[in-house]
Amino acid sequence: MPINGERGCCMEQQRAAIVELSRRVRELKEKRKAVILAHFYQRPEVQDVADFVGDSLQLAEQAAATSAGVIVFCGVYFMAESAKILSPEKIVLLPDLGAGCPMADMAAPEAVRARKELLPGCIVVTYVNSSAAVKAESDFCCTSSNALKVVEAMPPDKPVLFVPDRNLGSYVARCTGRNLELWDGYCHVHDRLTTGEILAARKEHPEAPVVVHPECRPEVIDLADHVSSTGGMLKYAGSAEAPAFIIGTEQGLLHSLKKACPDKSFYLAASHMVCPNMKLTTLEKVRWALEDMDPQIEVQPDIQDRARRALTRMLEIK
Ligand code: 13P
Ligand code: SF4
Repeated sequence: MPINGERGCCMEQQRAAIVELSRRVRELKEKRKAVILAHFYQRPEVQDVADFVGDSLQLAEQAAATSAGVIVFCGVYFMAESAKILSPEKIVLLPDLGAGCPMADMAAPEAVRARKELLPGCIVVTYVNSSAAVKAESDFCCTSSNALKVVEAMPPDKPVLFVPDRNLGSYVARCTGRNLELWDGYCHVHDRLTTGEILAARKEHPEAPVVVHPECRPEVIDLADHVSSTGGMLKYAGSAEAPAFIIGTEQGLLHSLKKACPDKSFYLAASHMVCPNMKLTTLEKVRWALEDMDPQIEVQPDIQDRARRALTRMLEIK
């Protein structure tokens, strides 16, 4: 076991390595005229090297608007794929191609087509946490920050199929009063959060409001003081007067929360709230991606065009 001095020295070395790698990534980024976009769930050092850190909607907007020819997407596959669909002329790099989203894998395009046939005339609203092929089967996309607005904009006389997150779908159904047909998908990171864990966190930090993501189960949402996307949580923490917050989403957001509100305290609702896929992106992999201009995201042209329609319609509603 290292004695304290050794541990301190090891941490110093790690910090120095991060500083050096970050410097190299910034240098390569200039050389490649690239922009680095990172989701709030990314590792702290990856968030710190990014040009923009945001939630799914903010990142899609950035990807659509950037003038850079190269986008390094620090997030998961469906996010990089959406960036490519919105900016097909740009090179989109995903530093680890294995960074998938298990919830996105819970809906296959054939299964969505089959369900649509059972609901003649339905409108398909698909959460961006889905494959390009599923977006191509959809009428509209949504993210957790605009799902209410998107569903509210749908004609009231049409059935709406909501894919793939059953928890976000049931939250939207409850808030809008719309009777949505729900897909049976879920995010394993948020779905595992229990009411018992929320009650225990409240007992430990009675001064802290509970803030949860709408990917959590309905009974967990019922115990929360505030429900929003990751970007919404950041805004809420900045404007609410409370000195501390219990955060029911992936642990990476705490880095941005602490940076934005250094005088406030943030407690993760449960220590298991870590998305392994979001943590696959490291500074080394960002460097390699910029050095090699690889791995690049490609989307089949016919799928790309149909998926863009659903994504663009979402951006227009916002
Ligand atoms: P938002 O950042 O849009 O809230 O989404 C959370 C998420 O689970 C992304 O994978
Ligand atoms: Fe997918 Fe959940 Fe990870 Fe987001 S946090 S990428 S929804 S598994």
